[in-house]
Amino acid sequence: MEQKVIFTSDINISLSEYIKDIDYDHIFILTDTHTKETSLPVIKSFTDELKDYFLITIPAGDDNKNIESLNHIWIELSKNGATRRSLMINLGGGMITDIGGFAAATFKRGIKFINIPTSLLASVDAAVGGKTGINLNGLKNEVGVFKTATQVYISTEFFSTMDNENLLSGYAEMLKHGLLESENYFNKLISYDVTRGDFESLLPLLEESVNIKRKVVDIDPYEKGLRKALNLGHTVGHAFESFCMAKEKPVLHGYAVAWGLICELILSNKQCGFPSSVLHEAATFIKTNYPVAYFTCKDYDILYDYMTHDKKNDNGFINFSLLNNFGDIELNRSATKEEIEIMFDIFRDLMGI
Ligand SMILES: NC(=O)c1ccc[n+]([C@@H]2O[C@H](COP(=O)([O-])OP(=O)(O)OC[C@H]3O[C@@H](n4cnc5c(N)ncnc54)[C@H](O)[C@@H]3O)[C@@H](O)[C@H]2O)c1
Ligand SMILES: [Zn+2]
Repeated sequence: MEQKVIFTSDINISLSEYIKDIDYDHIFILTDTHTKETSLPVIKSFTDELKDYFLITIPAGDDNKNIESLNHIWIELSKNGATRRSLMINLGGGMITDIGGFAAATFKRGIKFINIPTSLLASVDAAVGGKTGINLNGLKNEVGVFKTATQVYISTEFFSTMDNENLLSGYAEMLKHGLLESENYFNKLISYDVTRGDFESLLPLLEESVNIKRKVVDIDPYEKGLRKALNLGHTVGHAFESFCMAKEKPVLHGYAVAWGLICELILSNKQCGFPSSVLHEAATFIKTNYPVAYFTCKDYDILYDYMTHDKKNDNGFINFSLLNNFGDIELNRSATKEEIEIMFDIFRDLMGI
């Protein structure tokens, strides 16, 4: 399941070199309505070089990671002569790499595809690791398959058109990788400001982050064990996401993960002795750089309910991936309702809510 990931500071040259060496009949590029405007022009010298390629565009936004968009992609492939020798290029954020990967994995029982993530979140997470799929009936990623892209091209050249909110959202997943890896890498991350626009310095940090995810996925591609480590921050994070959605104030995934990371470091500190100095450093970074999570003690019950309904739970126990220390992971931990209430109290205290 090894996946080739190329980090490049010149995406056009890298793509041209790749295309020279492969056997294909047609190229299909998938974008959403935003990345068609922001990111397709970045690979212009590459697309100019192609004799012809076919562009498929679907509406932007996670709501459109659905069966209607998938159907549209399949029909466009079919109508425009895609064969088993065709190549699909997914150019966009995680929404595009997820749905495009699924479309390619299923069209004619599978055609080659490459991912060119254009958002930080997709670069550091969605585009790598082989999970593809769509949302169904209000449920996230309800239908999909594991299928790795033949190649993933990661370049920070796309990020200049991204807003700071989405950059920070993706950066939360890098912080997660930092905690899962080492103090040294984590310290580099909390000394860097992703909103300053210095993307040259971001590329090596991004490379380290992606390699941490790949190391985990190579050992456990189908999430039987170790891959659950990548859920750090997500058990509580998903509850925050659902809570904000229900209040009609949806938040970006990475914001919820950032808050979730602090909550789960609090639990890690209580249950596994995770160093409180690091918990405080991480909390200060999140408090300084991310918006505030608005909730009170009256909301604990509903947040707890969201956690008990998480699809990753076994036998009704809330499942956490916690840490003893940097890179020292404790899988399949649980917590009582009382422990979770104390966790929220400490979180609100640390964040000054
Ligand atoms: N497969 C996995 O392992 C995995 C992991 C994490 C997340 N995901 C999925 O990824 C998606 C979230 O990823 P995302 O945040 O990239 O979402 P997204 O693709 O919806 O992108 C967010 C917004 O940014 C825009 N955008 C993307 N690149 C841009 C650029 N360079 N300049 C300007 N605008 C740009 C998009 O058009 C969209 O409006 C979700 O669907 C989530 O389920 C999948
Ligand atoms: Zn995530």
